[in-house]
Amino acid sequence: MSPAVQPERRRLRLPPGYDPERHQEALARWAKDQLGPSWHIEMVDLASGVAYARRQVEVTEVQAEDGSVGCMEVRLASATKPTDAERVAARLEDQHPGWTMTAFDPWLGRAELARIPDDWRRARAAVATALGTKPWEVGIEARQGGGYRLRLPASYLPSRHDARLEEVATTVIGSLGWTVEVDRPRLTAEIVPGEPPTFPAVLPYPFDAPVEVMRLPVGCRLGRRAGELGPEVAVDLEANPHVLVSGTTGSGKSVALWALVGGALRAGWRVAIADGIKGGVDFLAFRPACSAWGDSLDTAADVITGVYQEGLARKAALKTTGARRWHDLPDGSRPPPLMLVVDELTSLIIPEPVPKGVPKDHPLVIEASERNLAKAEMLSALGKIARELRFVGVSLVGATQKASTTTGIPTELRENMGAHFLLGLRPSEGQRRLALSNPDLVPEVPAHLAEDLAASRGVGVYELDGVPAGVLKVYWATPEDYVARICP
Ligand SMILES: Nc1ncnc2c1ncn2[C@@H]1O[C@H](COP(=O)(O)OP(=O)(O)OP(=O)(O)O)[C@@H](O)[C@H]1O
Ligand SMILES: [Mg+2]
Repeated sequence: MSPAVQPERRRLRLPPGYDPERHQEALARWAKDQLGPSWHIEMVDLASGVAYARRQVEVTEVQAEDGSVGCMEVRLASATKPTDAERVAARLEDQHPGWTMTAFDPWLGRAELARIPDDWRRARAAVATALGTKPWEVGIEARQGGGYRLRLPASYLPSRHDARLEEVATTVIGSLGWTVEVDRPRLTAEIVPGEPPTFPAVLPYPFDAPVEVMRLPVGCRLGRRAGELGPEVAVDLEANPHVLVSGTTGSGKSVALWALVGGALRAGWRVAIADGIKGGVDFLAFRPACSAWGDSLDTAADVITGVYQEGLARKAALKTTGARRWHDLPDGSRPPPLMLVVDELTSLIIPEPVPKGVPKDHPLVIEASERNLAKAEMLSALGKIARELRFVGVSLVGATQKASTTTGIPTELRENMGAHFLLGLRPSEGQRRLALSNPDLVPEVPAHLAEDLAASRGVGVYELDGVPAGVLKVYWATPEDYVARICP
């Protein structure tokens, strides 16, 4: 493609009284009025009273092979610098409505314009933003079967840009279920349309997978597209011993605790269950396999303080061995890890109102005070377990329904429970802030999934150390199923 017209220059007589300080812009406008929009002033010779104008854009129009997309090469003024790109693009696109600058090469003195459809242009701009580059550095064309084919700039870095490209594909250009496939050696990519991912009605617990002692499976992450399940979501209790499961009523908190309790028992953990509010009804089948069981306020308090004592004893024993952490102990001398499970955590520790206007020695007042004493004892022990027992092979796993800053779990306890699950489909902003450390980095359950009654059971979000936060569905199995599969 060679330019049809050679660069052209014209000599213009300067208007009388021309003052370069004040009239430079007016002169440029005047030159365009006199000669046409593609002309600009190249040089002014005040002594001779003349200016030289140059037509800086010479155009060769060609037709693309399919005949529908026009393309033209544009010669750039010799003084054009790389930093002029934006200005040149704006001017060329202004001069040629409907055309878009698709290449800019000041060293070769050329740029390229093409007639690209509006959606290509928008997609290209979004990709350029994601890559931190200029739109004309991204090549774009239609992909067979829908979506786009991209040519990526040399500055593309998988580690830096892949997540952003994915986000642009699923939010700006397409919707959930669209994917990006990058061909790294060729520096090309395809943005591929797709149906949004979803979950099956039930995700059976993976009883056949190998058991890992400190990594207990909870569920699966949402896949990237329809028909695809994401990777397994498991809590690494060595890195993050304490887990908080939040969610409104019926969101699947107890089922998530089953997965952790069942997984722990299968992996040889000792498990202590404290369910002083619902009397342990959701966990009855686990009872024979548990090492401690509390189904009333008093017995729950005993279980919780008992776990704290055991933790302290482990800490002391650890000190005598010289090891700093429980899992540094040699295999034979390590006591099994211990999981304390507390369902309905908030209800268990919120003090009850003491009846007013009743004598202090009335049985109602005495009873309420005693219950509140047990609650205070539990709150104190739970706080200490979460704060002090991190490296002794003790895990606190709690589930809670209520979320409020004034009542419920004190901030410090919540912060010490570092692995977070928030079950339920449409939690309020306030709930997200309480249940998650960085709610801004945690996605929400997509609307199409929330509307699907079967697929959305046991669905929520997770926030765990060392893996990107995401949407998950919790595995399903009953306590009876787990007990039947406990490894001998
Ligand atoms: N992962 C799951 N897969 C399939 N169904 C589930 C799942 N989780 C929960 N469900 C369904 O939802 C019901 C309620 O779950 P669950 O009892 O765990 O909720 P919860 O949050 O503990 O409620 P509550 O606050 O009343 O204790 C279950 O009985 C089950 O039918
Ligand atoms: Mg429950």
